[in-house]
Amino acid sequence: MTSRRTFVAAPYGFAAIALGLHLVSGVSTAQPSGPVVIGHRGASGYLPEHTLPAYALAHGQGADYIEPDLVRTRDGVFVCLHDVYLDATTDVATVYPERARADGRWYAADFTLEEVRRLRAHERLLSRFPRGRSRFTVPTFEEMIELVAGLNRTTGRRAGIYPELKAPAWHREQGLAMEEPFLEILRRHRAGSPELPVYVQSFEPEPLIELRRLGSPLPQVFLVADSETDPPRLDDAALERIAEFADGIGPAKTLVERDPGLVERAHRRGLVVHPYTFRADDVPAGYASFEEELASFLGKLRVDGIFTDFPDRARRWLDGSTAGASR
Ligand code: G3P
Ligand code: CA
Repeated sequence: MTSRRTFVAAPYGFAAIALGLHLVSGVSTAQPSGPVVIGHRGASGYLPEHTLPAYALAHGQGADYIEPDLVRTRDGVFVCLHDVYLDATTDVATVYPERARADGRWYAADFTLEEVRRLRAHERLLSRFPRGRSRFTVPTFEEMIELVAGLNRTTGRRAGIYPELKAPAWHREQGLAMEEPFLEILRRHRAGSPELPVYVQSFEPEPLIELRRLGSPLPQVFLVADSETDPPRLDDAALERIAEFADGIGPAKTLVERDPGLVERAHRRGLVVHPYTFRADDVPAGYASFEEELASFLGKLRVDGIFTDFPDRARRWLDGSTAGASR
């Protein structure tokens, strides 16, 4: 699959020099121009989330970025999982029935990588890829990076990675702080180079601030969840604060729907807007189709990208739309 997307360089060169990261002709981080398609947990609408096949399919379907959520094992290895626990997407309760904590959950931080490797991964949503068919495993972050980099080379189509640090404060309490070893992995794999674009994301501001303190030049996105009881305020003052440590926001899409001016306000502060999550099998009320929802966000609201479980549908929509061109 080919893409007509082009990439533009972002000015992170000096910090990159300090960190020894991804230097190409004194300019570093490359980002696609125009709205980007982020394969959310891979192409998780089609294959079990956070598995290498799901990531490979997202690549083949034309995702600009592929998203791993990251947690750490007891021996400190970054693995691709949405939750700090293993029981929602693996057979850990069957393989290690005695290893749950008092709250009844099986935490990745209590298992070594070798133990995690014995588990079979499955899709979270019962309506999607059937459980018990095929064998899937929990990949490490480095395996994910190597897969994307390898596909970039063999297909000639460049996709980036969009890793999310899951629960960094909780990991720190467990003695598994994430920031330094995470940067070390990115450095080793030249993430952020034109060959492997990257965005780093987190719902917590502190790790993003810490990554900057450690000298990371990589673009960062601050995730913002919605809440019926306590909705976040994304007013000008809040965006100013976010712009001190991030290059974009990743709001729940309902936040953009209720406050369409948010996109323009964020853009005025140089922040990109990448809302989540767009699902063809869960189209919200008010839209006649998934494509109508895509048209609203990518066409009318002019967000800079979307997290989607169905990268092929978003790619197709963008490729047939003027919103897919550089702007
Ligand atoms: O990271 C964007 C989106 O994935 C945030 O929600 O809970 O699916 O990680 P979550
Ligand atoms: Ca995520």
